[in-house]
Amino acid sequence: MADSVIDVGAAGDIEPGKFIAVKVAGRSYIIARVDERFYAVEDNCSHEDYPLSYGCLDGAYIKCSLHGSWFSLETGEPQEPPADEPIATFRVTVQGGRLLLDTSRPA
Ligand code: FES
Repeated sequence: MADSVIDVGAAGDIEPGKFIAVKVAGRSYIIARVDERFYAVEDNCSHEDYPLSYGCLDGAYIKCSLHGSWFSLETGEPQEPPADEPIATFRVTVQGGRLLLDTSRPA
């Protein structure tokens, strides 16, 4: 397993429609589950430095609770102002029931 691939927990611990926040090497990530699919994005709004984990999910979108921008978990793209830059997305896979986050590459 590459150094950039980190076991961040059991897939079964995240219910559909929920997310967890994890910290790896000083950087914060959100691991979200939408139905049976998992997404990983940086836990930081692109508008200002503010944790997206304070927000909420609706389908494959996460809302920043500070100024209300929604971001796609799939692409990282903001869906409405005030944010106008994407957030970083990362590959996360499930192997043997474990969530493996690849911090080196976009999803
Ligand atoms: S800090 Fe997230 S929309 Fe402003």
